[in-house]
Amino acid sequence: MPSTALDPSFSAEDVSAFSRQHLTDIAAGKLAAARIPGFFDRATLDSMTAALHRLPTVDYYPVRVAMTRFGPALNDYRTPQGVLQADRYWPDADAAERMWREAGMEPDPTLVSLDMLGKAWGTTVTTATIGGRPAFVGMMREINAGTLLHYDDIHLEYPGGLFDQEIVSELTYNAYLVVPEEGGGTSLWQHRWEASDDVHRQRYGYDPRVVEGCRRVTIAPGHGDALLFNPNHYHRVLPNGPGGEGRRITVTFFLGLTPAGDLVAWS
Ligand SMILES: [Fe+2]
Repeated sequence: MPSTALDPSFSAEDVSAFSRQHLTDIAAGKLAAARIPGFFDRATLDSMTAALHRLPTVDYYPVRVAMTRFGPALNDYRTPQGVLQADRYWPDADAAERMWREAGMEPDPTLVSLDMLGKAWGTTVTTATIGGRPAFVGMMREINAGTLLHYDDIHLEYPGGLFDQEIVSELTYNAYLVVPEEGGGTSLWQHRWEASDDVHRQRYGYDPRVVEGCRRVTIAPGHGDALLFNPNHYHRVLPNGPGGEGRRITVTFFLGLTPAGDLVAWS
């Protein structure tokens, strides 16, 4: 059942389709997460994953976890001062765009997802732009060993602003293309960053003590699931189990709610 505005339970809901209310409640932090189990059916997943081997991926170790990834994430292209390293980002974004087209994944999980989210919201989801130029959307990640505890917040990553659009609130979208038999869940805690948390900083994430005593929700990954949550809440991906077996591959992007009530996407 839909959670109400005053529901303090910080729960995750399984739904048959996302609604505007789900997105609003997640943006506001009232609902921990919403998931459409099996949004992509097995035949569609088989068709999409058949193209995976045509995507050149990079091994990616410095931040948070060992992962393999296709496509640039804006968070990894900022200077220590929080300014976009445009000379690195745009060539990588252009190359990823081109390689994505060449891989010819059918259907395109990013486009299908954006279309579905636009229908849920009531207006088309557009791509966030930087100086008029659309950002890359549709990063694909393989995370088998979990991630450190962290949060994502575009305002803290780019304190001087980044997009042409102002972002009021941020959501994470994940579509699960390949899931392990066990593990690989996403845990969310009902806690957002505050300055005093930084004594718990640990490499690129945070020590679990930062969320001690906070309400926690864990969402297990299922084949083809579509998941939305608010990344301002501390979260982490749990390792595949047992012993990191299996593969966990998602298409991931962020959605930003603008003051005009539009949704824009980026990765
Ligand atoms: Fe995250």
